[in-house]
Amino acid sequence: MPGKIYLETDRLLLRAWQDQDVEPFARMCADPEVMRYFPEVLTRDKSEELVSRCIDKQGKDGFCMAPVEVRDTGEFLGFVGLSRPTYAAPLPFDPCIEIGWRLKKSAWGKGYASEAARAWLRFGFETIGLDEIVAFTIPANAPSRKVMKRIGMQRDHEGDFLHPSLPADHPVAPHVLYRLAASDWIARYG
Ligand SMILES: CC(C)(COP(=O)(O)OP(=O)(O)OC[C@H]1O[C@@H](n2cnc3c(N)ncnc32)[C@H](O)[C@@H]1OP(=O)(O)O)[C@@H](O)C(=O)NCCC(=O)NCCS
Repeated sequence: MPGKIYLETDRLLLRAWQDQDVEPFARMCADPEVMRYFPEVLTRDKSEELVSRCIDKQGKDGFCMAPVEVRDTGEFLGFVGLSRPTYAAPLPFDPCIEIGWRLKKSAWGKGYASEAARAWLRFGFETIGLDEIVAFTIPANAPSRKVMKRIGMQRDHEGDFLHPSLPADHPVAPHVLYRLAASDWIARYG
């Protein structure tokens, strides 16, 4: 039984977190290949904390990085969603709403991340009226940058930054920034 469904696409349900998501989510976040562009793989406790933060954000903001489920089979694929960043130190472009994605390996190469992300962009711009959505990652994360481009986001070349949660000399501190303005989305799809 899926939980509350936020959005639907041709192949996917984007829905509320449920207790049974924690197990496959923690397995995904413990996979070094999935986490290769992050500072570390997540322990079970850290994965649980992340799910709790997502649930809190859903309550406060009405959106979060939300589970992605295959419509036909109910398989849990990972998360895609919108989030208001809440790092200990502010991002240089705060306040902002980011879009992000993390899927288990077996779900890569099927267009699922872009399909889910487009639904979240539509929600962000058309349902809750955001002016802009940003995305960021480390320069080496080519698959994630391809999703950003595929869904119409553009690199802000002036926007490169060091992630405020990491020491400046950390190998994954340098980030690139992509932006999409509501006006560009609406001109194209609205
Ligand atoms: C980032 C991530 C979600 C990208 O996944 P992805 O599968 O490459 O991206 P999509 O789901 O949009 O799929 C696009 C690919 O599916 C292919 N594809 C296959 N069938 C498709 C279909 N029916 N429809 C659309 N695309 C399809 C596309 O051609 C494309 O392949 P290409 O990149 O080789 O050109 C994934 O690599 C991931 O989870 N990485 C680990 C976590 C991470 O780094 N997250 C980002 C942090 S910023």
